[in-house]
Amino acid sequence: MNELSEPNRIQQLDEITIGHIAAGEVVERPAQVVKELLENALDANSTAIHVEIERGGFDLIRIEDNGTGIHENDLELALSRHATSKLSQPEDLNEIHTLGFRGEALASIGTVSQLTVASKPDGQEGRCIRMDAGRRQPIEPIGMANGTVVTVEQLFQNTPVRLGFPRRPATEHARIVEVVVAHAIAHPNVSFRCTIDGRSTLNLPSSSSIEDRLYDVLGGQSSSLLSLVLPAQDADVPGDESWTGYISAPDISRGKGDEVHIFVNDRPVASTPFHQAIRRGYRTRLMQGRHPVAVLHLQVPANEVDVNVHPTKREVRLRHSWRVLERLERAIAHTLATSPTQPDSSGELQELQGLAQNAQNRPIQELLVPTRILRRRHPGRLQQEHNSIL
Ligand SMILES: Nc1ncnc2c1ncn2[C@@H]1O[C@H](COP(=O)(O)OP(=O)(O)OP(=O)(O)O)[C@@H](O)[C@H]1O
Ligand SMILES: [Mg+2]
Repeated sequence: MNELSEPNRIQQLDEITIGHIAAGEVVERPAQVVKELLENALDANSTAIHVEIERGGFDLIRIEDNGTGIHENDLELALSRHATSKLSQPEDLNEIHTLGFRGEALASIGTVSQLTVASKPDGQEGRCIRMDAGRRQPIEPIGMANGTVVTVEQLFQNTPVRLGFPRRPATEHARIVEVVVAHAIAHPNVSFRCTIDGRSTLNLPSSSSIEDRLYDVLGGQSSSLLSLVLPAQDADVPGDESWTGYISAPDISRGKGDEVHIFVNDRPVASTPFHQAIRRGYRTRLMQGRHPVAVLHLQVPANEVDVNVHPTKREVRLRHSWRVLERLERAIAHTLATSPTQPDSSGELQELQGLAQNAQNRPIQELLVPTRILRRRHPGRLQQEHNSIL
C-alpha cells in the first residue's frame, strides 16, 4: 500500500481544540451537504468523483469517490462530532492544508437525514455504517471498490424547522451544479460526474490542464478569457502570495457577479469580498453595475489565511488582505493594459484563436438548463461537440 492510499486515522478532538473551532457546521440545504461531501472526497485524494442527486437532494444525495477510504476502526468516529483526521491540536488550526478540519460535517448531516457511509481503503475489506436521524447503527461488511460512498436519504424529513428556504428541487439542482463546478474548476486533475434525477448533467474528464477544464465548464466563452499577467515589478513587492487565473476582456461582462470564481489555496470562496479590487483593476473599462467573467486562484502560505471563521467555510480571513487585494488589482490592470483587446477581422483575439477553434459560446448558466432545451437550441450538435457535458 503506498502512502497516498493509506487512510488518515481519525481522532476525537480534545475540549481545548474544540473550543478554538468557530461555530459549527450548519447544514441548511442540500447543496451544502454536497459541498461537504465533495470536500471530504477531495481531502481523501480522490481522482474520480460521482455525484448522484434525486429530487433536489431531498430524496437522495450519493457521492462516490476512489480516495483513500476510512479505516474500519474509524468508521464510528467519522460520524462523531469533533472527530477528524485533519487536525489534532489547537496549533494545527493556524495552518490548515485540507478543505475540512472541524470533524463535524458527517455528524451534522447524520442528525438530519438517513446517512450511510461505506468505505474500503486499499487492501482492506469494505465496511458500512448507517446513522438514522442521529442514531448510529452497527458496522456491516459490504462488497465495494476502493474508496468511499456516502449516501444521504430523506434529508430534513424530520426537521422542517431548520429549513429556512422553499424546498424547490429545481433551485437546489442549480445550486448543486454550481458547487460541483466550483470544485471542478479548482481540481482539473479530478474527474467529476453529476447525475440528476437519472440524467447525466455534468461529465468532466480529468485533465492536466486548467484550460481544458475551463473549456468544459464555460464552453465557448473560455476562448475569450485573458490569462492573468503579473507586472514585472510585482516580484519585488513583499509577500509570498501569488495570483494566477483568467479574466474576461472588458467587452464581455455580466449583470451579476456569479461568474467570478475565486479560489484561495484551491478552496472555492465567496467572491464578493474581491469584487471591488477586481473592479478597480478594470478601471473605467467596466460599465457601472457590470461584472467580468473571472477565474482567479490565490496561493497564499497556509499560516496567512484563516478558514476557521465562517460556519460553512465560504469566507476566509487573509492576514494581509489589503496587500493581496492590491496585488490582484495591479495584475488585472496590467493584464488588460498588455492584452490586445481589439478583435481582428475574424472577430477573435489573435492569440486566442487556438482555443477559439472549438468555441461554441455556451455560458455556464446553460449547463443548468435541462438537456432537452439545449438540444432543441442546437439540434444534433451538442452531444457530438460537447460530449463531456451531456
Ligand atoms: N470520502 C471520504 N474519504 C475518506 N475519509 C473520509 C471521507 N469522508 C470523511 N472521511 C473521514 O471522516 C472524518 C470526518 O469527516 P467530516 O466531514 O465529518 O469532518 P472533517 O472533514 O474532518 O471536518 P469538517 O467538519 O470541517 O468537514 C474526516 O476527518 C475523514 O477522516
Ligand atoms: Mg469534511
